[in-house]
Formats: sequence, structure tokens, C-alpha cells
Amino acid sequence: MTLLELADVTAFYGPVQVLDGVSLSVPEGGSVGILGANGAGKTTTLRAVSGTVRTGGRITFDGRDIRGLRPDQVAALGIAHVPEGRGTLGQLSVRENLLVGAYLRKGRKAISADVDYCLDLFPQLQDRVSSRAAALSGGEQQMLAVARAFMAKPKLLLLDEASLGLAPSTAKTVYDSIRRLRRESGIAMVVVEQNANLAFSLVDTATVLETGRNVLTGSSAELKGMDEIRRAYLGG
Ligand SMILES: Nc1ncnc2c1ncn2[C@@H]1O[C@H](COP(=O)(O)OP(=O)(O)OP(=O)(O)O)[C@@H](O)[C@H]1O
Ligand SMILES: [Mg+2]
Repeated sequence: MTLLELADVTAFYGPVQVLDGVSLSVPEGGSVGILGANGAGKTTTLRAVSGTVRTGGRITFDGRDIRGLRPDQVAALGIAHVPEGRGTLGQLSVRENLLVGAYLRKGRKAISADVDYCLDLFPQLQDRVSSRAAALSGGEQQMLAVARAFMAKPKLLLLDEASLGLAPSTAKTVYDSIRRLRRESGIAMVVVEQNANLAFSLVDTATVLETGRNVLTGSSAELKGMDEIRRAYLGG
């Protein structure tokens, strides 16, 4: 079953068109990567799904047309967006950030169990639960951003450059935990990532965008084997 489908999606900032017919298909529980150079339209594709940019074309989620819905309506359907730059609330503590992530949920016990799960998934956050998010390191903030999105219990996670600005070992730690989260929760994912090695460690299929269009789509194994992908994204 297809969970998310984008067909011929266009997107506009004011009069400027930046997506020119993007397609993407995410099966239930599947994980799909979006690769591409700076400015290719990766972030905008995620924004098209979460309702924060003006779009054309067709966007369906769980069998319903979601194009044109407000961001809060999209979130309520079960789509959580971990934005570029993380978007954690700096003045709130780690625990408060996690609870904000769960604001649409009822059931204190389940929420509390999920906070514990997040702290098990990202042990670095354990000692920092009472610290303000602004005082965390970049890696810890990224962990918090992912954990906060999980707290909404989404069906689909949109992940934008989770490795950006992190030391390689920290980025690997973050991705190891996201892989575990995927395995244990079955949450579907759309993964935007400039580091293709990390992306391929998490996704089943991927698409490459160039100036707002798909130029290549395939399985991780297929794409990893292609010379042009190796040269552009895998450092050799
Ligand atoms: N708020 C905005 N207003 C106007 N133009 C924008 C805005 N945000 C992005 N753009 C433009 O839209 C195009 C696509 O940008 P987008 O952020 O989607 O690219 P990206 O693939 O995520 O790039 P990066 O790898 O640098 O994050 C770029 O040309 C960018 O300059
Ligand atoms: Mg981007």
C-alpha cells in the first residue's frame, strides 16, 4: 500500500517556481531518500508535503488528497516534519520539547512511556532532560528534533538533512538511532540528505532532484552502483 504519493508536484515562492513536476512514492513503512545539490528543491519537496509552500499537482496521503491543507491539518493526519535547522524550542527543556511533540495526543501513560523510549533511543539526552534545548550541542539538538517528531506518533517522518553541521561520528550516531527507530516503530520516512552514504544506510529507494525535477530514481543498491551517483555523492 502506498502511504504518500506526489505526482507532478510544482511549488512556488511568490511568483518563483522552484519545483517543476516532482514525483515520489512512499510505501507504508517504507523509507525514500531525496538527493540533490544545493538549491535542487529537496527542502521544498518536504514543505510541499507539510503544507508550508504553495503547490500544484497531486499529493495524497493515506488515500486522501492533502494538497492545500494547512500545516496543522497535515500534522494531525500523522506527518511529522523535522526541518532543516532542527526547530527545537530553545527556551524549553528537553522534556518540555518532547511533550510539545505529543501535544495532539491523549493518554499520559503512553506519552510518558514514549518519553522514556526517546531517552533510550538517544541516551545522550538522558542527562540533559532538564536542560534548555538551547544549551545542547548540535548533535543533541538534532537527536531532540527527531525524538520530538516521534512523540507525535506519526505515520510518516519527513527528515531534512539530519547530518548537517555534525561531526561524522555524531552524524553516524544519529543515523544509527533513526535506523533503530524505523525498525522498531515501522514509521515511514522521507529522508533528505546530502551525505549519500548516510542516506543509503536508511532508505530503500531514492530519487535525485535537479532544479526541481527528478532526474534519477531507483533502489539504494541500483543508485549506489551508478558512476554518476558515486562521483557526485559518494566521493569517488
Ligand atoms: N523562502 C524562499 N523564498 C524564495 N525562494 C526560496 C525560498 N526557499 C528556497 N528558495 C529557492 O528555491 C530553490 C529550492 O530551494 P530548496 O531549499 O528546496 O533547496 P534544497 O535542495 O533543500 O537546497 P539545500 O541543499 O541548500 O538545502 C532554491 O533556488 C532556493 O533559492
Ligand atoms: Mg534544503
